[in-house]
Amino acid sequence: MSSADSIELVDMHPPHADLAEETLRGLSGEQKTLPCKLFYDKRGSELFEAICELPEYYLTRTEISILRRFMDEITRALGPRVQLIEPGSGAGTKTRLLLDALEDPVSYVPLDISKEHLRAVAESIHRDYPDLQVQPVCADFVQPIHVPDPARPPDRRVVFFPGSTIGNFHPEEARAFLDHLADLAGPGGGLLIGFDRRKSPEILVAAYDDSAGLTAEFNLNLLRRLNLDLGTVFPLEGFAHEARWNEQHGRIEMHLVSKADQTVRLGETDVQFHAGESIRTECCHKYGPEGVADLADRFELIHTWTDDEDRFGIQYLTVR
Ligand code: AVI
Repeated sequence: MSSADSIELVDMHPPHADLAEETLRGLSGEQKTLPCKLFYDKRGSELFEAICELPEYYLTRTEISILRRFMDEITRALGPRVQLIEPGSGAGTKTRLLLDALEDPVSYVPLDISKEHLRAVAESIHRDYPDLQVQPVCADFVQPIHVPDPARPPDRRVVFFPGSTIGNFHPEEARAFLDHLADLAGPGGGLLIGFDRRKSPEILVAAYDDSAGLTAEFNLNLLRRLNLDLGTVFPLEGFAHEARWNEQHGRIEMHLVSKADQTVRLGETDVQFHAGESIRTECCHKYGPEGVADLADRFELIHTWTDDEDRFGIQYLTVR
């Protein structure tokens, strides 16, 4: 039996969003927007991985350093025989650090909307952790999900949501999403979550407007992707990447600013851009020391771990 045969993938057949409809909706508002999930086509995912290695993008390496430094405390808090659930299944360095340290984990449940990506993640974890049950679920992780029962009963389910991805949700969406994660974790379950901290706007803006220009390419790739997938003709040289700190909302915003008055055809609709007008493509919320605890109504905060400079935080919360 090949390693792929022993992995049982649960396919919830997530409906794929209507790209044309979402794009038109986003570009019809007074502040034009596009959903940040559209960044992650093949090229966008490669660019994001490269961003995580950039000197200015401190988030990934700081989170990894916190995990390494406090792993004993973290695994003691989570306890033995955990069923580990990872929405958005990166299954990279952070997941492996946790799996290496957890005491007798019962199963790993990666959740992802892309079946291809999910299979690759599941197979690679199975290859490296042959004794661990891997239970991939193909689903849109913001929708209700039935978590498959593992062969051995777990002591608890723990949702792992690193990377400050929670910051890409608007606060009210984050609140609803955290409620949903409480359902995933179930009674007595836990949530181990990473969040980025507020800090000087210079450091934050540099993290989202790096000197190598990778984040600019990542942002502009969204238009390239629409051109490929929707047949639009956004001129990439007609838009400029901008990272703005929004003090009122405590967030970095990524924008694509139109360099001139221009019109782009979207199906039957002409979308007009004035010179200087922008499309907001992403919001990255930054948190105070309380982290996500204030938004996580159904959880009790157990512990917060940070780095020496308080740049990033990891919290462990349990379902009330
Ligand atoms: C995926 N997410 C947590 C990243 C962030 O920092 O908000 C996405 C990103 N956007 C630009 N650089 C990285």
